[in-house]
Amino acid sequence: MSALFSPFKLKDVTLRNRIAVPPMCQYSAVDGVTNDWHWAHYPALARGGAGLVIVEATAVAPEGRITPYCTGLWNDAQAEGMARIAASIKAAGAVPGIQIAHAGRKASANRPWEGDDHLPERDPRAWQPIAPSAIAFGANLPRVPRSMTLDDIARVRQAFVDAARRARACGFEWLELHYAHGYLAQSFFSTHSNDRTDAYGGSLENRGRFLVETLAAVGDVWPEHLPLTARFGVIEYDGRDEETLRESIELTRALRAEGLDLLNVSVGFSIPGAKIPWGPAFLAPIAEQVRRDAHVPVASSWGVDIPRVAERVVAAQQMDLAMIGRAHLADPHYPYRAAQHLKLEKPSWVLPAQYAYWLERYQPDPAARDCGD
Ligand SMILES: Cc1cc2nc3c(=O)[nH]c(=O)nc-3n(C[C@H](O)[C@H](O)[C@H](O)COP(=O)(O)O)c2cc1C
Repeated sequence: MSALFSPFKLKDVTLRNRIAVPPMCQYSAVDGVTNDWHWAHYPALARGGAGLVIVEATAVAPEGRITPYCTGLWNDAQAEGMARIAASIKAAGAVPGIQIAHAGRKASANRPWEGDDHLPERDPRAWQPIAPSAIAFGANLPRVPRSMTLDDIARVRQAFVDAARRARACGFEWLELHYAHGYLAQSFFSTHSNDRTDAYGGSLENRGRFLVETLAAVGDVWPEHLPLTARFGVIEYDGRDEETLRESIELTRALRAEGLDLLNVSVGFSIPGAKIPWGPAFLAPIAEQVRRDAHVPVASSWGVDIPRVAERVVAAQQMDLAMIGRAHLADPHYPYRAAQHLKLEKPSWVLPAQYAYWLERYQPDPAARDCGD
């Protein structure tokens, strides 16, 4: 019996297995509106067999986009395209999820393949990023953000609430708040980016306030029976890891008390040059610690894509869900490949009948696949 291929129930939602596609920006929207690219990409991922497909970081307000090409959910045209995506994921048997986000000081950037740096201020596509404090990320993102007023904070919190309401109306059944990766919420929490002296800076409680308040406000509009989750960078690899992890677990407990159903455990990415120990499942022990000490189901990614590694971390209860990102871009039928690698009986059952019927009967000749050598 495979742990990876066992169902997972959270609130009223049951995933057909523990494989999830994490949010992955496509940087292909126009004015935040999705198009043919997204409408083909997302159902293809869902048809591959994953239990959950989470749509990319989708901005709650125009200035919260990472690039001018990021998706948004602040108007009806954006919602219309997103409803199409949610329906297509669900029709393929996966649970449709979406990550709603605000990029904070990392906003107004070029696409990764066009430089991954801040747009020059004179570029007509650029805008002024906002953040808890006027502290730049540095390196490729040197632009100094404008420090947010209390009115800005209230507006962005409300934008998260409005986007959550829209996400539900679109048919999404799993909501992830993007509190990670050095974007707005993470930058409230991190002392690398927050030197405020008001109620949103200083103590752990104050630095966590925006995150806790926003989750609570979203919880008022997001249905009680559906999962309300967040992605958070619990560790920075900046030499202060023990302290950061302790604070992160405390924050997670506070979020849990306000209705958090699952934490997608990630890295903070609040500073350039962090000494991240990349390697297979390097976050698994950290995810396990958060799961145990904050009493919350967890998901995680980064290097859990080798099928036996994914199987191991789920079987060992280090994480409830394995988030498989780039391997899904390489092969949208990753779950089928994983089932083959794990030598499960009839691995093709993870695919739709249109494919499974044929693949059950198909025994490729390894020599014939060798392109004639
Ligand atoms: C193209 C691409 C876009 C990404 N966009 C997002 C995003 O929108 N939100 C997010 O939280 N993480 C994003 N990530 C990080 C992934 O969700 C994932 O954590 C990362 O790829 C590591 O998992 P992997 O080793 O299985 O690829 C992105 C990664 C890639 C490769």
